[in-house]
Amino acid sequence: MKQTIAFPSGTVDYYFKSKVEELSRICSNRDLILLTDVTIAALYPGLFAGRKHIIIPSGEDAKTAESIKEITKKLLELDATRKSMIVGIGGGVITDITGFVASVYMRGIKFGFVPTTLLAMVDAAIGGKNGVNVGLHKNILGTINQPEFILYDVKFLDTLPTPEWSNGFAEIIKYSCIFDSELFSELEDYDLSFYKTSPEAVAELIATCAGWKNKTVAEDELETGIRKLLNFGHTSGHAIETIYHLPHGQAVAIGMVIACKLSSEINGFSTAGTERLTDLLERYSLPVKYHFSAPHIMEVLKMDKKRNNKNIDFILLSQIGEGYIQSLPLETIEQTLNTCM
Ligand SMILES: NC(=O)c1ccc[n+]([C@@H]2O[C@H](COP(=O)([O-])OP(=O)(O)OC[C@H]3O[C@@H](n4cnc5c(N)ncnc54)[C@H](O)[C@@H]3O)[C@@H](O)[C@H]2O)c1
Repeated sequence: MKQTIAFPSGTVDYYFKSKVEELSRICSNRDLILLTDVTIAALYPGLFAGRKHIIIPSGEDAKTAESIKEITKKLLELDATRKSMIVGIGGGVITDITGFVASVYMRGIKFGFVPTTLLAMVDAAIGGKNGVNVGLHKNILGTINQPEFILYDVKFLDTLPTPEWSNGFAEIIKYSCIFDSELFSELEDYDLSFYKTSPEAVAELIATCAGWKNKTVAEDELETGIRKLLNFGHTSGHAIETIYHLPHGQAVAIGMVIACKLSSEINGFSTAGTERLTDLLERYSLPVKYHFSAPHIMEVLKMDKKRNNKNIDFILLSQIGEGYIQSLPLETIEQTLNTCM
């Protein structure tokens, strides 16, 4: 099912409910270079045999400027030119790296994604943001640049470990909190084991979430307004992820609980709402608390790209299904973090 979405910087073809075998047709006549990680290369060797490819280590530690240098050397060895197309096949680490390296190699070459984690399918592959980390500074080098296409094949999820399913659900729950109370209720009606055995239901869920993200990014690609809503749970979540090396989804889950507590303090968001969220996160095997150090989190928050002098744009909830942007003083955030520890 092909759907073309227009963003200010360009259009992207979405192939929902598709098969990875379609890649040859979509990229016919292109000098194709596949970029993946060792896990995907080992699980799906047939995808790479006979095709130009680059394999990097798995995981967040590979999302660095050093990796970009290594990949660049390999692109040169593979004679990649401005006419080549890089296709990232993997989770969010691979899609972020692919988007970044393709944006800067020879001042930009075309690229596409085949996301293989639930998190990348519903979030990381969508929206054009890419980047790599430098030390504690997450995604500090990056661009906003849309891929040519995103090809979805839920068959990849057959090999996805359960904790990675949970990570994906953190982002799905995020969309339901800020935009879609019906989706929130649907998620309350089912659980991880239902979705793991229902590829059609998962494909629907992915299309719903991609729809929310696309609508938001199409309106505000450069994140000057409404796109900031997608950062619900991410401001403190990124800090927790960076300091404690938690997986992205787990850190975002804890960040969403913190954002609910801040919402209660600022606008009286109901305790019942926070309880519904914590129950839902636990239903999808996500953590709802963590023994973190508030001063360490504050240190990282102070370096946050979203900081504006002494305030940070935080995403709060007025109710389930309705997020909004609120500029908060650092002291207010610190006080709440102290109560969340
Ligand atoms: N650009 C964006 O808008 C955006 C949005 C959200 C997250 N992100 C980024 O995405 C990254 C997290 O993405 P992720 O959770 O997909 O992590 P990931 O890419 O590290 O993948 C998680 C693990 O699953 C493995 N894996 C991938 N697909 C698999 C499959 N089908 N079967 C078995 N194993 C598989 C990977 O090798 C890895 O070990 C973070 O770096 C985060 O910053 C970016």
